[in-house]
Amino acid sequence: SVLEMEVEQIKKGDFDHFMKKEIHEQPDSLTTSMRGRLKDGVVGLGGLKDHMRTIRRSRRIIFIGCGTSYHAALAARPIMEELTDIPVTMEIASDMLDRKALIFKEDTAVFVSQSGETADTLLALEYALQHGALCVGVTNTVGSTLARKTHCGVHINAGCEIGVASTKAYTCQIVVMVMMALAIGSDKMSTLAQREAIIAGLIKLPEKVHDVLKLDGEMKALAQSLIDEQSLLMFGRGNNYATALEGALKVKEVALMHSEGMLAGEMKHGPLALVDEYLPIIVIATRDDSFSKQQSVIQQLHARKGRLIVMCSEGDASLVCPDGRSRVIEVPQVVDCLQPIINIIPMQLLAYHLTVLRGYNVDQPRNLAKSVTTQ
Ligand code: G6P
Repeated sequence: SVLEMEVEQIKKGDFDHFMKKEIHEQPDSLTTSMRGRLKDGVVGLGGLKDHMRTIRRSRRIIFIGCGTSYHAALAARPIMEELTDIPVTMEIASDMLDRKALIFKEDTAVFVSQSGETADTLLALEYALQHGALCVGVTNTVGSTLARKTHCGVHINAGCEIGVASTKAYTCQIVVMVMMALAIGSDKMSTLAQREAIIAGLIKLPEKVHDVLKLDGEMKALAQSLIDEQSLLMFGRGNNYATALEGALKVKEVALMHSEGMLAGEMKHGPLALVDEYLPIIVIATRDDSFSKQQSVIQQLHARKGRLIVMCSEGDASLVCPDGRSRVIEVPQVVDCLQPIINIIPMQLLAYHLTVLRGYNVDQPRNLAKSVTTQ
């Protein structure tokens, strides 16, 4: 009805689409996510407090989710392992159920879901509860089934997300899981300096996100150059393996273009056969401890005349692309474990502009639903 359309327009404010609005809201949503949780250099997560001893004693942490929420957990996995010294394994909810994966009462199972109502995730939760694991929820929805049925948890407080493709919930989920890693690992003196650096990075993060959003025009131009492509690859590793998977998911779900995120370390075991001068490949090579490995990946792709788009840290353009042949996306450098939050934003903008330019529905991609409540 006309009234419904008007209400929608009011909710979108100055933006044409919810996805665009939600991408640009990220400096604010991240601030809200952290509000009241970083006091005097200490992370306080009220929802986990009573279970902290059990979590610290667990033999394993298992991250469980679907789609973007799974990717957020994957992005937080390296820092969770590093700060807690507890092995972290990953489960896609449906696959965990398909395999009837082993899970024990000494495990902490962390369920990640924006809606808190995804059927596969809730069934995996039932399964983990039956096996006696401590179940932790990470969700954006207060009062959701996930929030009610887990033993404890953390709300991400990203604000209502309407676009089917998750954007601000993704970055807030990562921030929350980084804060969880800081809180669980806060009893270890050996990581004190590192934890302080991460907390300082969290405080500066919204401003850095604000800066990276200025790439909007550049990403629109990049989208224009890719508009007629059949396929797009994204190579990442380490902290940014998740960025490659999530960037590719954004492109496939909204722009309806085939796109695959790949672990750069696996490139020589197959994907390299696809490389030619036509297929566009985005390589994530921002500064962290994977940087030199990514530099050699870039060299190998160049040697095969690959059509590269390299994402690097500000000031590194001539380093990652000395002959000026590749397109470069320069982003602000932040502490390693927060870099995936910065790096996904140009990919969200790219997916958004590709979709609009290709004439597809941004907020409600065909065949998809915001919350999948059936198995
Ligand atoms: C659907 C949505 C995705 C989302 C996934 C998991 O597939 O289209 O955007 O990532 O569900 O949703 P959840 O609410 O559990 O995070």
